[in-house]
Amino acid sequence: MKTAKLILDDKEYEIPVVAGTENEPALDIRKLRDTTGLITYDPGYANTGSCKSGITFIDGDRGILRYRGYPIEELAGNVRFSAAAYLLIYGRMPSEAEFMEWRKQLTLNSFIHASQVNFFDNYSVHAHPMNILSAMVSSISSFYPHIGGENDNMDQHIHRLIGQVKTIAAFSYRKSVGLPYVYPRTDHSYSANFLRMMFATPAEEYVVPKVMENALDMLLILHMDHEQNCSTSTVRMVASSMSNIYASVSAGINALWGRLHGGANEAVLTMLQRIADDGSDYKKYVEMAKRKDDPFKLMGFGHRVYKNFDPRSKILKKAVDDVLTEMGIQDPLLDIAKNLEEVALKDDFFIERKLYPNVDFYSGILYRALGIPTEMFTVLFAIGRMPGWIAHWLEMSKDPDLRIQRPRQVYTGETLRHYEKTIYP
Ligand code: ACO
Repeated sequence: MKTAKLILDDKEYEIPVVAGTENEPALDIRKLRDTTGLITYDPGYANTGSCKSGITFIDGDRGILRYRGYPIEELAGNVRFSAAAYLLIYGRMPSEAEFMEWRKQLTLNSFIHASQVNFFDNYSVHAHPMNILSAMVSSISSFYPHIGGENDNMDQHIHRLIGQVKTIAAFSYRKSVGLPYVYPRTDHSYSANFLRMMFATPAEEYVVPKVMENALDMLLILHMDHEQNCSTSTVRMVASSMSNIYASVSAGINALWGRLHGGANEAVLTMLQRIADDGSDYKKYVEMAKRKDDPFKLMGFGHRVYKNFDPRSKILKKAVDDVLTEMGIQDPLLDIAKNLEEVALKDDFFIERKLYPNVDFYSGILYRALGIPTEMFTVLFAIGRMPGWIAHWLEMSKDPDLRIQRPRQVYTGETLRHYEKTIYP
């Protein structure tokens, strides 16, 4: 076994080096505190491997993303979202029979409990759909009090989570615009069902345009997993205390909501609109993003892991062009986005910091072309990410190294002082 040496106060310690199947080395510091009295200090966990995982491989320097070994370029645009979700969760592509059964189960389990439908009436009219989504997903487990018990059927919880997340999303939209709810059908794919539930009226047949169904499948697959990102780490953190899968995933939805994570897709569109309203002077905004005294950042740019092109943004950029052309849409925000990208990629500030467009940079323009309202963009991300959260929850629950996640800290507060008795009124 390879080891690294740590020399501290003239004492030498051997630290084992572990490596995964792609040979990425890591220091195994599990015994570090016991043997040396030291802990590590790593704000943002940029150098910390929190687990071993066999789900998704990313090489940020080479712009590589693979689900269960399959390159993202071979999946996005070529398979249905539900087939890719099966792959991510069960580790292999389904046979045709398995796929048809899986797709049917996702639809049959997509009906939220009739009592829970009434919950929609009680949210504030100003509630953000991510707010509704996290509360609703957390509430599902209240209808299954025996979850996690003996004879519990985990597969059914998986079907419910993937099936119901799109129902909750579509219903929250329908509620916000005062339209009646539309229910899914077993003869539709996952994405076709979602689009139907969003846009059909009960008065007439709604034929889901293939171009929209395929684009949504691709978008959801691109968002499906990204190893130990903020929301997935949150799901794992909550799950490590043995919380149920709905509670864990609901916490992940809240983590995704922030604008530095999944909320960035909404923030990109808001930024592009702001630039358009401000005379489309995109160069001014690139300059603003570079200023230390200005909190403005170029939303949809930069990534903790990718120090090269995000492969998802490459796929998306091409797809945006293709889909908008096929749908006959001319979007002025797309021109602004392309101009911003071109200027930023030639700018030393962005070159030195290796800042490239990420998955959120072009996704909003595609969602907009599909008729998805801006405040629903992050909800769409959550629908796509659901199989990823589930796969990580399952992997973690079987991990022999599982311990409750409980980081340490470097204390910087007051040292010992004593309380002087005071009479407070
Ligand atoms: N615009 C301008 N400057 C940026 C940007 C940006 N979008 N992103 C990073 N920088 C700068 C930082 O100010 C910092 O500069 P400095 O070294 O002079 O201090 C340097 O680049 C490094 O950035 P960090 O913030 O340290 O990088 P970190 O890995 O912590 O954050 C993050 C990554 C959150 C994605 C960041 O790049 C960002 O805020 N981007 C905009 C929001 C965004 O698009 N989020 C979506 C990410 S993808 C996803 O979650 C699906």
